[in-house]
Amino acid sequence: MRIDKLLSHTGFGSRKDVKILLKSKAVEVNGETVRDPKFHVDEKTDEVAVSGEPVVYRDFIYLMMNKPQGVISATEDRFDQTVIDLLTEDEQRFEPFPVGRLDKDTEGLLLITNDGKLAHELLSPKKHVDKTYYARIDRPVTEEDIQAFKQGVTLDDGYETKPAQLCILNSAEESEIELTITEGKFHQVKRMFESVNKRVVFLKRLSMGTLELDETLELGEYRELTEDELTKLKQRK
Ligand code: URA
Repeated sequence: MRIDKLLSHTGFGSRKDVKILLKSKAVEVNGETVRDPKFHVDEKTDEVAVSGEPVVYRDFIYLMMNKPQGVISATEDRFDQTVIDLLTEDEQRFEPFPVGRLDKDTEGLLLITNDGKLAHELLSPKKHVDKTYYARIDRPVTEEDIQAFKQGVTLDDGYETKPAQLCILNSAEESEIELTITEGKFHQVKRMFESVNKRVVFLKRLSMGTLELDETLELGEYRELTEDELTKLKQRK
């Protein structure tokens, strides 16, 4: 890989910024000053340093975002801001994408990565990864709804949902629930409630597999996964 690409990917700014850095003689590869942006390095074996500090190269980025409402879970959109627009340019250089979709008006946990293999494993219908949502529903949610969701309900297109676990937190006029599903059909939670003649008025994802939303993240904030979170997610323990 070219040294300018490596430095740009590791947070030293645009290729133009990196060119200036190289010119300033701040960059060394295996102890030798390198000034040529086209200089080729092996990111696995060569030792790269900027102003004497070693540069650690990595291929993948793993971010947990507390997605706000009004933002689209996509890499680009003609009209609306996307979750990728909320990232810095340095992070965008990794070409990350959201793992699965949350509706524009849904908040909460969204994993953003460029690791296609992990994304595939988390989204594959065969893997049955649990996703837990908190929701507020326009009417009281009942024991019958719990049983119906446990059996599986029929969505508007005839699809029979897999067993889901519904937990009533508060069954007041506008009730609060937590729902765990193992699938990810389009608008699934909203459509499941529609099938029992109820409407989701607020929806937030709390977890996906072993990954739980860090509640200290404000809406629109994000952070890197910890080593522990990433290891567990990959092992799905
Ligand atoms: N189910 C929905 O209806 N919407 C979401 O955003 C996620 C799950």
